[in-house]
Amino acid sequence: MKVLIVGSGGREHAIAASVAKSPRVDKIFCAPGNAGIGQLAQCVPIGAMEFDKLVTFAKENAIDLTIIGMDDPLVGGIVDAFEAAGLRVFGPRKNAAILEGSKAFSKDLMKKYHIPTAAYETFDDADKALAYLETADFPIVLKADGLALGKGVLICNSLEEAKDGVKSIMLDKQFGSAGNRMVIEEFMTGREVSVLSYVDGKTIKTMTSAQDHKRAQDGDQGLNTGGMGTFSPSPFYTEEVDKFCKEHIYQATVDAMAAEGREFKGIIFFGLMLTPKGPRVLEYNARFGDPEAQVVLPRMKNDIIDVLEACIDGKLHEIDLQFEDNAAVCVVLASDGYPVKYEKGLEIRGLENFEGKEGYYCFHAGTRLDDNGRFVTNGGRVLGVTAKGADLKEARENAYEATKWIDFDNKYMRNDIGKAIDEA
Ligand code: AMP
Ligand code: GLY
Repeated sequence: MKVLIVGSGGREHAIAASVAKSPRVDKIFCAPGNAGIGQLAQCVPIGAMEFDKLVTFAKENAIDLTIIGMDDPLVGGIVDAFEAAGLRVFGPRKNAAILEGSKAFSKDLMKKYHIPTAAYETFDDADKALAYLETADFPIVLKADGLALGKGVLICNSLEEAKDGVKSIMLDKQFGSAGNRMVIEEFMTGREVSVLSYVDGKTIKTMTSAQDHKRAQDGDQGLNTGGMGTFSPSPFYTEEVDKFCKEHIYQATVDAMAAEGREFKGIIFFGLMLTPKGPRVLEYNARFGDPEAQVVLPRMKNDIIDVLEACIDGKLHEIDLQFEDNAAVCVVLASDGYPVKYEKGLEIRGLENFEGKEGYYCFHAGTRLDDNGRFVTNGGRVLGVTAKGADLKEARENAYEATKWIDFDNKYMRNDIGKAIDEA
């Protein structure tokens, strides 16, 4: 069969690598893709938000299955556009992708269906939000309602800071129209865990757990990023935590969406915080995490096409989802200055070192081929270097060893990805 993947990051490269392993797949296309994806797939220069062009491409090329990797097109209704054209597509429709697209929606859903999360209030009006802050406890968390590249969350330690935050989100529109509404919520403490799951509208099957590192610098300092590295599984995701989440969070979320007439098919990514009072939902995403996908997918034993088709066809209960009994660590190689300002177009050397190395992956995030056919940097997050190991410590050692195989000017990474493993 012919598969089209929509997106251009490390996540889409990891998806493409899984798809390429399926004996059912003859040809992979990726729109728009990147230089690394181009080694597995034919990249097509169509943007992820160009729904008409993508639909036309899928029809003209007789694509059998389209997989949407990114959040923006999902929230914008790309699945509806493909379905309207009679095309098979993996991902939630617009009315379900709102689970990620609107934090106010997801908080209201959790409240209505008693899914454990932080206490909160929603505001459409800056004056009301500012007045509310006068009586609040600090720290407090401000969230722009809409998509903001994972950056629309501000943790404020004082009234002054929080007031400035409300002004920048709602009045100065720091995150654009994502800040037309906002959620103000209780600050929680605990370890964070990402649990990705496949959902077919009714049945949910969770994947192995993972943990991201969102801050730019070692010791969780610096600005929030899309993610600087991940490990899987999380040693803090115990059987007890899993049991609690299965009872109170996972199926409850799928059932809540169905009860609201918003049947969810695709990936639900649960961002959880393991608080002293038990697991709480920090946020939902409606797609694979990036870089979570880079440590979770290489450990999945199933043929990804079988699983994705089961989700589309409402047959997920027939799938025996299995993961390898090992571990994986991903260290993101970024361009120094990310997430603020960084150079592009720098030559990347050493990619060939990954060839033929079982259990090692170099997923491309921001790369392109220049006019001379050289791999050059083309974004803030450049590569995701992933390695497996028998356990987390071995995987971490392997991943950091493999980061040495790659070289480019302004190469930057965190040196403490997976440090939490030592505390487990
Ligand atoms: P989100 O995009 O909602 O996952 O938020 C981004 C990051 O902000 C999370 O990964 C947490 O580290 C932090 N965060 C979000 N909500 C809270 C909260 N209620 N309490 C403490 N930290 C939070
Ligand atoms: N790594 C977090 C995310 O994909 O949203």
